[in-house]
Amino acid sequence: MGPLWDDVAVSTLLNETTTTSNGFVEPAASPLLLLGQGRDLASERGVECTGALPAPSDPDLVERARAARAALGGRAFVLGHHYQRDEVIDFADVTGDSFKLAREAAARPEAEFVIFCGVHFMAESADILTSDAQQVVLPDLAAGCSMADMAAIGQVEEAWATLSDVGITGDTVPVTYMNSSAAIKAFTGRHGGTVCTSSNAQVALRWAFDQVGGVDGTGKVLFLPDQHLGRNTAVQQLGLSLDDCVVYDPRKPMGGLTEAQLRDARMILWRGHCSVHGRFSERNVTEIRAKAPGVNVLVHPECKHEVVTAADMVGSTEYIIRALDAAEPGSTWAIGTELNLVRRLAKAHPDKQVHYLDSTVCFCSTMNRIDLPHLVWAMESLADGRTVNRIVVDPDDAHWARVALDQMLALPGL
Ligand code: 13P
Ligand code: SF4
Repeated sequence: MGPLWDDVAVSTLLNETTTTSNGFVEPAASPLLLLGQGRDLASERGVECTGALPAPSDPDLVERARAARAALGGRAFVLGHHYQRDEVIDFADVTGDSFKLAREAAARPEAEFVIFCGVHFMAESADILTSDAQQVVLPDLAAGCSMADMAAIGQVEEAWATLSDVGITGDTVPVTYMNSSAAIKAFTGRHGGTVCTSSNAQVALRWAFDQVGGVDGTGKVLFLPDQHLGRNTAVQQLGLSLDDCVVYDPRKPMGGLTEAQLRDARMILWRGHCSVHGRFSERNVTEIRAKAPGVNVLVHPECKHEVVTAADMVGSTEYIIRALDAAEPGSTWAIGTELNLVRRLAKAHPDKQVHYLDSTVCFCSTMNRIDLPHLVWAMESLADGRTVNRIVVDPDDAHWARVALDQMLALPGL
């Protein structure tokens, strides 16, 4: 049986050649901003990118990448998140989900440069977990995360003040998903909370509830910024009910909730979501089941609750990879996560049917901003003695975010 999506999606999925990187080659033909040229410093978060990027069409690009990587040798360590492009993954010393990469960054004190091929919040965490002598570099500063941007520190401070006015902060532990700014991780550190990732959310939430009387008590968790991961973990893994969860909308007075709703809630979920995983629907699951009887539907916990409930298995990117590795030859899978990863899984498992859960193509556009030209530019610059796109977290935020991250790394059973 062949793949089950429409022909356009199939050819895009299986024949990776140029796709979105065209936008960088021909800026005149594309609305995409040519980054790293100092043309729009605001979009590059106020840090000027000096020098020119190599052209993506440069036939020598891979050779240049190899040469720059060899010149840096053990001075550099290259981390690649599972959602990165193949051309970037080829140069990663280690690949992983956000939890594994945070651990890997912390375990490389000998590396002078940590080149983070992922998104901004991951590079911030790497900076926090590495020593001051180490420099963390994000090859494209515009590689952010739309979910992380849905919680600004000012909004979170305001929400906490609201909870304080209602008299429930003493009974509430903040937990932030790794996909949040360093300032928000610092907020959780200052208020006795922790960080979690999609691979340890259950343990982190259990720990948080234990600080305020246990899952069966009356204490609360303020969960930032992904409402879906918070709800899915609380309901599917901790046994709380949907009625125990409320959604706090930072754009509304009191989060759009009444005092009674805030007092009664066990999980106060920030109104944030992932634009990539938010696309999957329950209908996708119904349709794939109709087309591929016996299919195993495996989705990331950033998907909506109805999708996770309809799926057969739920887990982080590392979990998804392990599940495919362990799957029986001949088995059929529909995966609901970012497309670069699903496409690599399809290639790595020719003996299994691997389908993309959505019928339309779904890359994480910010993860995709890191491409080979940016990586080559970053590596060549470092090899020439120039550090570009260094990520440096404010020292006070770094201190408190480290408290929260260390709490996560110390969670039992991880
Ligand atoms: P992981 O925690 O599985 O790496 O996911 C990170 C992420 O950004 C998913 O959208
Ligand atoms: Fe952020 Fe979603 Fe992209 Fe992950 S996939 S980096 S949560 S926008």
